[in-house]
Amino acid sequence: MFDALKPQPADKILALMAEFRADPRTDKIDLGVGVYRNADGVTPVMRAVKAAEARLIETQTTKAYTGLLGDPAYSDAMISLVLGGAVARDSIAAAATPGGTGAVRQAFELIRMANPQARVFVSNPTWPNHLSILKYLDIETVAYRYFDSDTRGVDFDGMIADLGQARPGDVVLLHGCCHNPTGANLNAVEWQVVIDLINKNGLIPMIDIAYQGFGDGLEQDAAATRLVASSVPECLIAASCSKNFGIYRERTGLLMAISANSAQTPLNSDTLAFLNRQNFSFPPDHGARVVTTILTDDALRADWMAELEEVRLSMLDLRTQLADALQQRAGSDRFAFLAQHRGMFSRLGAAPELVAKLKEDHGVYMVGDSRLNIAGLNARTIPVLADAIIATGI
Ligand code: LMR
Repeated sequence: MFDALKPQPADKILALMAEFRADPRTDKIDLGVGVYRNADGVTPVMRAVKAAEARLIETQTTKAYTGLLGDPAYSDAMISLVLGGAVARDSIAAAATPGGTGAVRQAFELIRMANPQARVFVSNPTWPNHLSILKYLDIETVAYRYFDSDTRGVDFDGMIADLGQARPGDVVLLHGCCHNPTGANLNAVEWQVVIDLINKNGLIPMIDIAYQGFGDGLEQDAAATRLVASSVPECLIAASCSKNFGIYRERTGLLMAISANSAQTPLNSDTLAFLNRQNFSFPPDHGARVVTTILTDDALRADWMAELEEVRLSMLDLRTQLADALQQRAGSDRFAFLAQHRGMFSRLGAAPELVAKLKEDHGVYMVGDSRLNIAGLNARTIPVLADAIIATGI
């Protein structure tokens, strides 16, 4: 049986991680996978997470199964964090999932089940695993223009023209904030234009929000998601706690299915529970319980928000430092976009051979499409990277 297996295409982010580990150079710089690192290169356990875990160890009396949708208190806490009351609670069906990726996967399965004809419109570029899962599920995808490689901002006219080709019932996958991999985001006016188009053409928005709190702030980063969710009849939202709670390996996510009519919610909930049961049965609980503990305790929540804000500001500071260092070396502001982008990533807009040269000549690892993880930098490596970028001719 097994000899019939064919090698699968490697995920380019995870393949890069392996390549980095195997590189013996001691001065190599990892700007690949999207994991936050502090100035010492460490991905710390956040203070509130430690405290919540200690509390759970003290007080938890059972590890028996939760419900198929996870702990309802977790859904409530996350719905409030992401949607902030923008949508009536009784019109939202929610399922805890193994990480944001689990939520994305379950959302795609739900789409396929509800409307096998639906095509999913994805930004060009998008997170590679969106495309990989869609292909695996045999769901047709259509790319819409998104990144303008001249300005390194959003090609908004191209985006709207391409989304104009979507048929009623097609799904538009949007990044709620901190677009991965580009770092380029829509402004409030542009979001409204997208919403109007979605409503005019009968499209279904699906929002992937994996970096809330990493861009302009916890509330600001959720603003677009809230606006979309409160302006359309139906919407899917895949949220991740990996980054903003720093609990990557705990696999903590939530899928929300919103409908205009609360009478639809029980069927949506039952379907999400069915899909969980088919794929993994009960969702992981530890990370979800940590998140719930933090979000429902005033002191822990305040401490978590303070630490998240430190993380966010440190990434903004790294962006400014890198843009400044490049401005000095290039003698122009052609890298100013780095300070405008938001979130963990920026796309440099460099050709793949130059990205390969950065790796080979300078030990700088970034994803082949020239996505760099800003949080992989620190005060020591910024000048090294700036020198390498200029020496490479980017
Ligand atoms: C990334 O884009 O680097 C992260 O979302 C991690 C992953 O799973 O790819």
